[in-house]
Amino acid sequence: MVPLKRRKVISSNTGKDCGGDKAPTKFPQVILFLLERKMGASRRAFLSQLGRSKGFQVQEVFSKSVTHVISENNSADEVRTWLNSQVRSESHTAVHLLDISWYTESMRAGSPVEILDRHKLQEQQINEAEAVLFSVPSYACQRRTTLDNCNTTLTDALSLLAENAELSEEDGRGVAFRRAAAVLKALPVRVTAMSQLKGLPCLGDHSLRVIKDILENEASSEVESTKHSERFKALKVLTGIFGVGPRTAERWIREGIHNLHQLRESGVTLNRAQQAGLEHYDDLNQQVTKAEADAIAEIVQKAVDSVLPSAQITLAGGFRRGKQTGHDVDFLITHPEEGREVGLMPKVVSWLESQGFLLYQKVTRNSYLEVNDGPGRPSSNMDRFERCFSIFKLAKREERGTKVTENTVKTKDSVGAHMHSETDQSPPSHSHELDQHDSTNRRWRAVRVDLVVSPISQFAFALLGWTGSKLFERELRRWAGHEKAMSLSSHALYDNKQSRYLRAASEEEIFTHLGLEYIPPSERNA
Ligand code: UTP
Ligand code: MN
Repeated sequence: MVPLKRRKVISSNTGKDCGGDKAPTKFPQVILFLLERKMGASRRAFLSQLGRSKGFQVQEVFSKSVTHVISENNSADEVRTWLNSQVRSESHTAVHLLDISWYTESMRAGSPVEILDRHKLQEQQINEAEAVLFSVPSYACQRRTTLDNCNTTLTDALSLLAENAELSEEDGRGVAFRRAAAVLKALPVRVTAMSQLKGLPCLGDHSLRVIKDILENEASSEVESTKHSERFKALKVLTGIFGVGPRTAERWIREGIHNLHQLRESGVTLNRAQQAGLEHYDDLNQQVTKAEADAIAEIVQKAVDSVLPSAQITLAGGFRRGKQTGHDVDFLITHPEEGREVGLMPKVVSWLESQGFLLYQKVTRNSYLEVNDGPGRPSSNMDRFERCFSIFKLAKREERGTKVTENTVKTKDSVGAHMHSETDQSPPSHSHELDQHDSTNRRWRAVRVDLVVSPISQFAFALLGWTGSKLFERELRRWAGHEKAMSLSSHALYDNKQSRYLRAASEEEIFTHLGLEYIPPSERNA
């Protein structure tokens, strides 16, 4: 109910609404409004006049001070819709929505009669199955998705189907499952009944079927059969090799290669990346911890400091979103002075190599030039920064000295900067014969690291693009294209209507350009 004090003030201001009122107001706490809809103007005028003559306050114009809305032949839904169009705040939720019967009875009684159920407009029986419980915007970049996921069983299942679709190069289906999983990740509670999903976006028939199966039977037959299918298992094992994509894996499967043993025996030619991937298979398929990412950050910082002191490194990818583990570590490197970053990557890589930190590296050259390339192509998620795909040789925790254990004796097979005496410049990769094939006893492990060099003018875009999650990025680009007629890439934002690039010095500015509320990295875990 509107507080009495406020109501009084308002009603004295709008006293003219009771115009034509001869009798004094008898019931100051009751302010009536008669809805003209379906009642008709003349009947309304007549009934209003009747009320005023009996000492009721009947307002001509609706205002927030109204306490009782009287209507005839309207449903509660209809009146609510009308009410919502009148006042925007929730302050009207306490207004009585009454049938004309209450009014006529009150006229007869000469005072407001008690409100009985039969006077109230029948709110439509809200069927549990029809209630919309959560309102979730449809683009993942409009939502805040933290790492707290109440629906891991469901999202794991949908993610597995997404992965299977992606491995089969059915990207459309893959994205559909990813979007469905992302919606469930954004829910504040665990879903236990299909009715809770009413009104949620991005849940297609297929995803709903899978969810229903799990809610009713604890597992989805489709997910289980996919998980255990020979094809899926082979695709997973083979694409688990760094440098092997779905297409190569598919070809190998057709040639009868389903596992690493068969691959090694087959004599197929592997490129340099795949050779390194196969050699370090176990390490690279073991999650990287945050502590390991931090240790690598220290090394990369050292490398950058040695070759260009004021260059800056930023940890991007999943770790920037607050994840405690990841499949790799992603770094952005830039320099506050535009142009100084040119030629930086080869120097950083040489330094790392000279210190024995790299087991594998491949640098791809930046070819992004606005003038030549035009607006960033939203469909291409491969960007064109100077980039280094690498495999780091990282000393194990005890060797790094973060926590000294009994296992700290530095031997010939220590790693990187730790292992070299001032005179010994040979890379460690040449001196680990002893431990090469026994990863558990080794004092180092292989870790996938991506280094990306960005000019400062593109840094905000690079940071936004490399922080992920992948679905969040995809949704940002879809939002930009479909809702804003803009093209977003990890280099730039182009406004197709204005035919110009929109500059940004921070991620916040990019969200503003896109007309989106700023979502911090920890809430981009879609
Ligand atoms: P990742 O594949 O490393 O994902 O890409 P992640 O979120 O860090 O996951 P984990 O923890 O390693 O498993 C990081 C971000 O970099 C972008 C991706 O879109 C993602 O947002 N990226 C990756 C590119 O823009 N281009 C690429 O070629 C690769
Ligand atoms: Mn990553």
